[in-house]
Amino acid sequence: MRRRSVINLLKSRRSIRIFKPVSLPDEIVKLLIEVGVRAPPFYQLYSFIWVKSFEKREKLAELCRVEAVKNASVILLACGDLRRFSRMLDMLEHKHILSSDKHPVETIISIFETALAVENIIIAAESLGLGSVILDCPLLYAQSIAELFQLPRGVVPLALICIGVRGESPPLRPRLPLNIVLHEDTYREPADEELKNFMSLLDKHMEYENYVKKYTGKDIKFVDYIKAKTELTKEIEKENETLIKYLRDNMFRI
Ligand SMILES: Cc1cc2nc3c(=O)[nH]c(=O)nc-3n(C[C@H](O)[C@H](O)[C@H](O)COP(=O)(O)O)c2cc1C
Repeated sequence: MRRRSVINLLKSRRSIRIFKPVSLPDEIVKLLIEVGVRAPPFYQLYSFIWVKSFEKREKLAELCRVEAVKNASVILLACGDLRRFSRMLDMLEHKHILSSDKHPVETIISIFETALAVENIIIAAESLGLGSVILDCPLLYAQSIAELFQLPRGVVPLALICIGVRGESPPLRPRLPLNIVLHEDTYREPADEELKNFMSLLDKHMEYENYVKKYTGKDIKFVDYIKAKTELTKEIEKENETLIKYLRDNMFRI
């Protein structure tokens, strides 16, 4: 396989949402997880569910309603896992933090470690010439997904990683300018104008890419798509309450 420098690879990576429906050898998945866990860990507060069953994938696709879930060669469910570490600490027979009502540091570490491992997996997949996309739908349907994969208490589904053979070649998507995300010594509040300019650039890019139509089938402007996704509705408030309760019941407590 063609080898690319890490910097070039990072600079050119795009999320891929359209895949060719082909299968990949199991060894590739094992290799991806092997390098995923090489990301810097503290306690390794994560678990990955490899979705191999056709029925489970169908159910996942029904819940998430995303085409990538149907066609990707590999679907991995990335979970934050406070359960395993809590059991290890129980074995040390001391009064430990995970038995308490709140453990903000460990909760954040779990999410952080999972994200680092996910990024390693994505970059490794890219280096093998494969494409990938992260989906956040597991968080929206946490309870149903936990039931589908029999996740025990303390194991929380955070994201899906869809990996496969690219069926599209989208352009590089814009990022905030470096002078907005990089601060020297003190935090610099960007001017409204700078933020507006970026939003306008993003909107133009997405229009040019035909992003919303291509991935959602909707005939609306990107800005309206983002507004719809982030609108504070009564329904969202209710969903958030359900998720907060689910996270609390599953040891994810800040
Ligand atoms: C935590 C997280 C959740 C995401 N969830 C979704 C998702 O549900 N659907 C989707 O199409 N893309 C999702 N993405 C991918 C981003 O939308 C994507 O990275 C962004 O469009 C930028 O495109 P690029 O990766 O090609 O630069 C997610 C990314 C992250 C980090």
